[in-house]
Amino acid sequence: MTEADDAAPDAEGRTLWHGRFAGGPAEELLAYTVSLPYDRRLAADDIQGSRAHVRGLVRGGILDGDEAAAVLAALDEVEDELAAGRFAFAASDEDIHTAVERRVTELAGAPGAKLHTGRSRNDQVATDLRLYVKRALVEVAERVLHLQGVLLDRAREAGDAYVPGYTHLQRAQPVLLAHHLLAHGWALARDVDRLLATRARADVSPLGAGALAGSSLPLDPSGTAADLGFAAVFDNSLDAVSDRDFVAEALFDLALLGVHLSRIGEEVVLWSTDEFGFLKLDDAYATGSSMLPQKKNPDIAELARGRSGRLIGHLTAILTTLKGLPLAYNRDLQEDKEPLFDAVDQSALALGALGGLLATSRFEVGAMAAAADTPYAAATDLAELLVEGGTPFREAHAIVGEIVRTALEGHGTMADLVAAHPKLGPDAATLLEPGVSVTRRTTRGGAGPIPVAAQLDRFAERLRLDRERVGGA
Ligand code: ARG
Repeated sequence: MTEADDAAPDAEGRTLWHGRFAGGPAEELLAYTVSLPYDRRLAADDIQGSRAHVRGLVRGGILDGDEAAAVLAALDEVEDELAAGRFAFAASDEDIHTAVERRVTELAGAPGAKLHTGRSRNDQVATDLRLYVKRALVEVAERVLHLQGVLLDRAREAGDAYVPGYTHLQRAQPVLLAHHLLAHGWALARDVDRLLATRARADVSPLGAGALAGSSLPLDPSGTAADLGFAAVFDNSLDAVSDRDFVAEALFDLALLGVHLSRIGEEVVLWSTDEFGFLKLDDAYATGSSMLPQKKNPDIAELARGRSGRLIGHLTAILTTLKGLPLAYNRDLQEDKEPLFDAVDQSALALGALGGLLATSRFEVGAMAAAADTPYAAATDLAELLVEGGTPFREAHAIVGEIVRTALEGHGTMADLVAAHPKLGPDAATLLEPGVSVTRRTTRGGAGPIPVAAQLDRFAERLRLDRERVGGA
């Protein structure tokens, strides 16, 4: 392939705007404005958009049946050449849009030169990118669903295993391991929701807006919108060619998804340390050290954490690019594509790698239970027991707090102090036994076995519905 650019001259030394210009473009201009290396990714969408445009030109009486057949056959050939990797990019190709048009004209002759009638690259690129976003967001959502499936499987397998729940990264109250895993699952469910909502807002055809103002020719934007499977058509041609809200929204969704994956990554890093010892990574999803023979490192988790910075950067980049733009199209908008493509690629890679890591890791339920079973973890249960007996919560909090302080000062064990307390006693001390505290959480959405069983069912049902929604999108 020859890298080419908007201003690259064709074989006869002509640019797209050769009529208006006396001289040719500078080499630096060509090097700086090139977009073909990355917008090639839109080739399939560009061909799809062109087919719809051709059929619209026929409906408008601008192309006759024979001309349309010749152009459509040429588009088929271009599609085959691109798919087979034998499409020959030329120095005169400005970007993927002009590369396709140039080849169609070579193949179809005079009718090919009518392809761009009533169309501008401004509405063309917006159309292509919306088609891409609609597809890409569904693909990312499918991968999110896969990771959610892994979390559900691991949560079901976890049974009654429990871990310390933390606030301020200090042990707070024990929670079922399943509960902890599903907490991440629900965050991902919101990501799926957002991806589908963004997709729905992107589902508007800009084709027919022309360069900025529509056309004097009998074009049919609603017809091409329907042909391309768009749910709606633009209302304002200036907005249609300059709106990149859908890119910003997609980048926000992917940045937030990245933040969620980063938080999972951070916990994998912590849990797989010797200090925590809650998680053992499978060899296939861990890395070694080039110098330290004993090391097994959680690089996937670290990169899920680290690369989320890049996704946030992409969101910042598009918002900054958009904020100063006067209507309508400005070349600045070409900067929409690289962040978007990279965010989609990186999200897909992260979801796959973390899914594999979580599916194959071993949970060290003994170490989790040992960490969760400190007698102090049941302090809230003791206070709530006092509340059940009529003690106001503030008073109960103070009573238990004093017992904790006394124990920490070495004047007896929690169990003995609780058993000896006139308002608590030996029955209350059974709350301190291993595994008891977590069973006390019984309210909806809580961390104990009863609500978690119901939550598992709700999560499985939500996943089933979301699979249907994503499958139908
Ligand atoms: N490569 C351009 C982009 O991505 C295509 C549109 C060019 N339009 C123009 N008026 N120069 O934005």
